[in-house]
Amino acid sequence: MYGEVLIRKASLEDVWGIVDVYCSGVEKWYRLVGGRKVESSYEELSIVERWSHGGPWMSVESCAVHLNYVLVNDQYPLVAVVDDKIVGELELYIGYGDELLGRHGYIDVLEVHRSYRRRGIGRALVEKAVEIAGDNGCETVAVWPDPNAIGFYEKIGLDKIAYRVKYVKLDITKTKPLKPDQLDIRDFPENYGMLEKWFFISPRIETSYIAWLKSRWDYAIEQEILRSFEATMNNEVALIIEEIWGEKNEANLYLWIKDKNLLDQALELSMGIAKHLGFNSLRLLASREIYEKQIEKYKHQILQDYIVLYREIK
Ligand SMILES: CC(C)(COP(=O)(O)OP(=O)(O)OC[C@H]1O[C@@H](n2cnc3c(N)ncnc32)[C@H](O)[C@@H]1OP(=O)(O)O)[C@@H](O)C(=O)NCCC(=O)NCCS
Repeated sequence: MYGEVLIRKASLEDVWGIVDVYCSGVEKWYRLVGGRKVESSYEELSIVERWSHGGPWMSVESCAVHLNYVLVNDQYPLVAVVDDKIVGELELYIGYGDELLGRHGYIDVLEVHRSYRRRGIGRALVEKAVEIAGDNGCETVAVWPDPNAIGFYEKIGLDKIAYRVKYVKLDITKTKPLKPDQLDIRDFPENYGMLEKWFFISPRIETSYIAWLKSRWDYAIEQEILRSFEATMNNEVALIIEEIWGEKNEANLYLWIKDKNLLDQALELSMGIAKHLGFNSLRLLASREIYEKQIEKYKHQILQDYIVLYREIK
């Protein structure tokens, strides 16, 4: 029998327990040897190799940096504790307004230790997140669910579709490279205020403020390994182009525009710069409406259809 489940805000002291929860979800650990995946023990892997299995939560060193960012920015990492052991973690962000979601809580990650699933711990974490969002004046709580977890969220009341999102890979092999120094370039906004009224195009699985906030967090591991470029252009397009982990020729696009009519221009700028940086494809997560109106016409492939779910807080 298990003891009672306690949900509380995490602190840096919880890092070991949190890493243990996320690592429990990994069935086998690998490292690359001469381009081939070789099964290894966790202890044999470098911090970078551990990260490649699922991000900063895979090692205490990187998880401590991540948790520190979440806490310093007044967001809510929550842990579930049973018999003094951390058995689950959820990270809740409080976001600024958006037409549909209003002021909202966003569940960014949620993981229950593999040996403790289906015992009500995920539900208890989400219920606490909803309570905190309500205390912070939020009108809704939203999540971009892993496709395997949609049934779980529907069961616990996050059952309305906020957005349908297309994960698209633009083929830029034939795009003409564009050197950014030919453009009127400024720094990417270090302050959210400038972007608040702009249109957020990608990644539409989260809201503008949260995408901006997380884009400001630097991890030494990513800086060392991944090529990236960020800027504000002509004072009307803000973009980040970032190499995808493990895909040297592909990049992700983060995109904000001042006016909806600028989208074609912004996409062409982004594709040209990505090509100049040496990428052959550019991935974005855009709402289905934007995809149908403006993205479908470019040479592309659809990688996945996603939904963002939400519930209203009474
Ligand atoms: C998804 C996850 C968080 C659920 O946590 P959990 O503690 O096992 O869930 P709970 O026991 O609180 O389940 C609550 C209800 O949802 C149901 N449920 C749980 N997982 C489900 C799933 N994957 N699909 C459908 N229903 C599910 C449970 O049966 C329970 O229903 P009941 O109230 O009728 O008994 C957990 O399985 C997990 O960590 N998965 C891997 C990571 C992941 O997918 N996270 C979500 C990323 S957005």
